[in-house]
Amino acid sequence: MEGKIKLAPSILSADFARLGEQVAEVTKAGADYIHIDVMDGHFVPNITIGAPVVASIQTWTHLPLDVHLMIEQPERYIPQFADSGASIITVHVEACFHLHRTIQLIKELGVRAGVALNPASPLSLIDEIMPQVDLIVIMSVEPGFGGQAFIPETLGKISRLRSMLNSRKLATELEVDGGVTINNAPGIVKAGGDVLAIGASVFKAKEGISHALQKIRQAIS
Ligand code: DX5
Ligand code: ZN
Repeated sequence: MEGKIKLAPSILSADFARLGEQVAEVTKAGADYIHIDVMDGHFVPNITIGAPVVASIQTWTHLPLDVHLMIEQPERYIPQFADSGASIITVHVEACFHLHRTIQLIKELGVRAGVALNPASPLSLIDEIMPQVDLIVIMSVEPGFGGQAFIPETLGKISRLRSMLNSRKLATELEVDGGVTINNAPGIVKAGGDVLAIGASVFKAKEGISHALQKIRQAIS
């Protein structure tokens, strides 16, 4: 299991004035995905970046770009993000009126489709869509900001989702996003997470980005 764990540094906590260099640094340090948080100031109380920045990031890394849309009615912008080089586009179940159609749109554009669940949203909300998606993101903080504390109740939700995926024989990736640290990463992996989005614990680490990422890798190996 551990061999398959992917690390997805979240650029939300990067120095945006040095974004390309920092993306190159995590790439060199052994990241698996680059996690890109897109926020619209409506679905979440924060604004970040749009498709042009995703296109620029693509020129600094060969890694898949894992684009997490925290925006209302994301179908309006999905073609732009697909054009900008996204490998995975994740939408929130809470932000889509017609989730099935939105997931189909992502897949028709040749991009892997993900669905995210806020901490208070039950797994039953994705019961029907589960076989259609490539990735499920379990939010372990309320979306909107980096550097928040992991909500401990999320561990049970991760285990329950892992059991559901196993019993349905689905190879869907299970990403955990928010408050992941070197201390809680082993427990998250044990519960069944196989992609860890990590922002502050990598980009704001005192020991530096590369060292922090490598230490987290060791902690889950
Ligand atoms: C939160 C974002 C996360 C965030 C995680 O809304 O979706 O990806 O960057 O950052 P940390 O690891 O700092 O909680
Ligand atoms: Zn995210």
